[in-house]
Amino acid sequence: MRKKYIIANWKMSPLSLRQAESLFNKIKKGLPRLKNVSVIICPPLVYLAELMRSYSGRRIIFGAQNSFWENVGPFTGELSPHQLFELGAEYVILGHSERRALGETNSLVNKKIKAAAGAGLNVVFCIGEKERDERGDYLGFIEKEIKEGLAGFSREKLGRLLIAYEPIWAIGRAGDEAASSDLLHQMKIFILKILKSLYGERGMEVPIIYGGASAPENARELLSEGEVRGLLVGHQSLIPENFIEIIKIADSLK
Ligand code: PGA
Repeated sequence: MRKKYIIANWKMSPLSLRQAESLFNKIKKGLPRLKNVSVIICPPLVYLAELMRSYSGRRIIFGAQNSFWENVGPFTGELSPHQLFELGAEYVILGHSERRALGETNSLVNKKIKAAAGAGLNVVFCIGEKERDERGDYLGFIEKEIKEGLAGFSREKLGRLLIAYEPIWAIGRAGDEAASSDLLHQMKIFILKILKSLYGERGMEVPIIYGGASAPENARELLSEGEVRGLLVGHQSLIPENFIEIIKIADSLK
């Protein structure tokens, strides 16, 4: 049985530490004993250290939503991957479409990925097209995102990489607007083929996860028929009972 990853991307919510603690505590209390799922929570950075300090359990792993491409130096306002690692965070989300919309290019994402993996973090590398076209241009777009995002990323570091396929047209939508499991399955195969062309058989072992309107009502189908190794959950991760339900569904699947 291969492990699944359920990753909460809280984005810029909630608005106070008190609310963040309350959300975290509800998730913590509701978590069952898990056989087969890693639960990773990526809160806003201002809450990360405090939540980590208050938690002594092992069931929840922490991550960040961004990090910089240098570990040290005069970079006002940036976040060193080394600092994150030292804090005890284990994951970082990079290349999210909401950051790309603010100007992050494939080459910036590439530098961040290499720095984060080099600092010992696991990288959740996000890719995904804005829209689909009949000619299939979006496939070329995805291929470019992967190849440029991973340029110079060594095979030895592949164990620290997850790829999150997040079609932008599904992000933030209601559950019935997520990618269909058929489409997701096709995209997963497409992504793995690219990884194989870059890294050989070893590339095929990189976990491919999905994000975009994942919810309790579609989690089972996305995971079992889409055959992805996990979900990157946005707005539904802010609703503790829904997030826990998604985790339970993932844990119940082979
Ligand atoms: P969503 O967001 O679950 O709210 O669609 C996912 C994401 O942006 O990572």
